[in-house]
Amino acid sequence: MTTQQEAKLQVPSFVTNPKLISWVAEVVALTKPDAVHWCDGSEQENEQMCDRLVQAGTFKKLNPAKRANSYLAWSDPGDVARVEDRTFICSAKKEDAGPTNNWMDPAEMRALLQTGQPGKPALFDGCMKGRTMYVIPFSMGPLGSPIAHIGVELTDSAYVVVNMRIMTRMGKAVYGVLGATGNFVPCVHTVGAPLEPGQKDVAWPCNKTKYIVHYPETREIWSYGSGYGGNALLGKKCFALRIASNMGRDEGWLAEHMTVLGVTSPQGKKSYVAAAFPSACGKTNFAMLVPPAGFDGWKVTTIGDDIAWIKPGSDGKLYAINPEAGYFGVAPGTNMLTNPNCMRSLDKNVIYTNVALTDDGDVWWEGMEQDDPNGAKPAHLIDWQGNDWTPELAKEKGVKAAHPNSRFTVSATNNPVLDPEWDNPDGVAVDAFIFGGRRSTTVPLVTEARNWVDGVYMAATMGSETTAAAVGQAGVVRRDPFAMLPFAGYNMSDYFQHWLTLGQKLADKGAKLPRIYTVNWFRKDANDKFVWPGYGDNMRVLKWILDRVEGVSMPVVEHAFGISPSYGSINWTGMQFTEEQFQTVTSIDKAAWAQEMPLHTELFEKLAYHMPKELLDTKARLEQQLAA
Ligand code: OXD
Ligand code: MN
Repeated sequence: MTTQQEAKLQVPSFVTNPKLISWVAEVVALTKPDAVHWCDGSEQENEQMCDRLVQAGTFKKLNPAKRANSYLAWSDPGDVARVEDRTFICSAKKEDAGPTNNWMDPAEMRALLQTGQPGKPALFDGCMKGRTMYVIPFSMGPLGSPIAHIGVELTDSAYVVVNMRIMTRMGKAVYGVLGATGNFVPCVHTVGAPLEPGQKDVAWPCNKTKYIVHYPETREIWSYGSGYGGNALLGKKCFALRIASNMGRDEGWLAEHMTVLGVTSPQGKKSYVAAAFPSACGKTNFAMLVPPAGFDGWKVTTIGDDIAWIKPGSDGKLYAINPEAGYFGVAPGTNMLTNPNCMRSLDKNVIYTNVALTDDGDVWWEGMEQDDPNGAKPAHLIDWQGNDWTPELAKEKGVKAAHPNSRFTVSATNNPVLDPEWDNPDGVAVDAFIFGGRRSTTVPLVTEARNWVDGVYMAATMGSETTAAAVGQAGVVRRDPFAMLPFAGYNMSDYFQHWLTLGQKLADKGAKLPRIYTVNWFRKDANDKFVWPGYGDNMRVLKWILDRVEGVSMPVVEHAFGISPSYGSINWTGMQFTEEQFQTVTSIDKAAWAQEMPLHTELFEKLAYHMPKELLDTKARLEQQLAA
């Protein structure tokens, strides 16, 4: 390192890891920022960053009387969601990324991003010119937990710094855990918008060209061109799912797109369930559910709302932690009816992205009209693109005030129903797995798999209607195995095998495996209306699941896919739901399934390489049963 480079690095005394220092030096040499800032995670630093973001026009400070210490950011209109078609798993062998991931040869990708080719400079070469590089040390999971892992993100975005401070355990203490010899996952992020001397910055710098790149073998992440959370907060999808799923496969644990919630019965019995749903399908609502009338004394508490890391304990049980420390949730649709606990957590210390601004400096999104005493929308707003918005304009032109994938970033500690064990380094023992998709037809309200293999089959073949969380058409049914389609960092068939192998290993040790359930809150009637009310009433299904886990004796309905409740085995106190409606959400329509099964075949053909035989056998058995 030259003295000039060393001077630019400004390594603080609390950073003692030589591997980290030399890697930062390498990335500085490549990306050429004007300055380097080593984040300590302090309150003072956060204030400084927020002030900087306000000055840059990225943040608007919200009215403190309405939302204390909270900010609103509006992104570039072309940078509002995860870019799945620009997301790459660059494993050494193409087969190891599998047919559901984009793949590029790692050497080719490194040439494109990092090393350059004759006449073609690397994308990261000089990409941070005119900007500061921030070094963000973070722990995914409780600091020092045996289930946790450390990452370091280098970014030229102050927006990323303040979001990462909420979403992860970030700051000086992480350098302490890392010490001189600890390992970390290196994550490099740039908005891809270098500034020439004297050039004025824009509020949301980004680049039309985007690359979200993972090298699974070397556990590295390189992200270019986007400031959107899922593409830029690299601890989240990139590390905690895509890279961690590789670590889990190699080390015998699971990294899953799951909420983890605690349920306490009136008798004080505590259970934990881990539930996987595709993006924007209600994981956060489920994680903070308020039990409905008829469930006096029941309590639901949150461990995590999006990602779970699950490791087998020495007792053969599966223990889950939430690797994150905050929620990056979808705002539209959130209100006092759908998620009162979430609304209560959003009044202070929140970063809002792409929601609308009210005339009195507050935020608004579609769905909040439910909380107005007259069900009214505000007479005037500034929409997420900075334009005037009125209910009339919305009606006439269909303009949304908030982007459908607009978000809040909030610390878990704001959650009034945060589970007391949420930060327990040992995690919590999982009693049941739940998998849910958004399906207006076909899939029943709830089904218990008869065994682990059937459960893995049900999760593997899950379909769901797409949402605004990713760029692309919304509302199209696509197979989303385990709700992990955009997040499994390796070949999906090997991922299925990993689940089967883990289950078999635990069973061989005599462990009682968590039972596996599928749910579907989204069945519609002939008038295209949702039949199941969802939200708090999902507690009724959750209780049925826990009764089953407990072995409570009750009449059930047996069918090809497993076991579902009879009408009488659900607690209906406080809810009007007729047997006929129940029939609509639980029926197994043979004609619909005759159309569905070929889609399973299509998926299995696509995933033929390494497809576990057990799943092919299960499919053949189901086809026979349905035809009978
Ligand atoms: C998310 C997603 O942001 O799944 O959690 O897209
Ligand atoms: Mn998610």
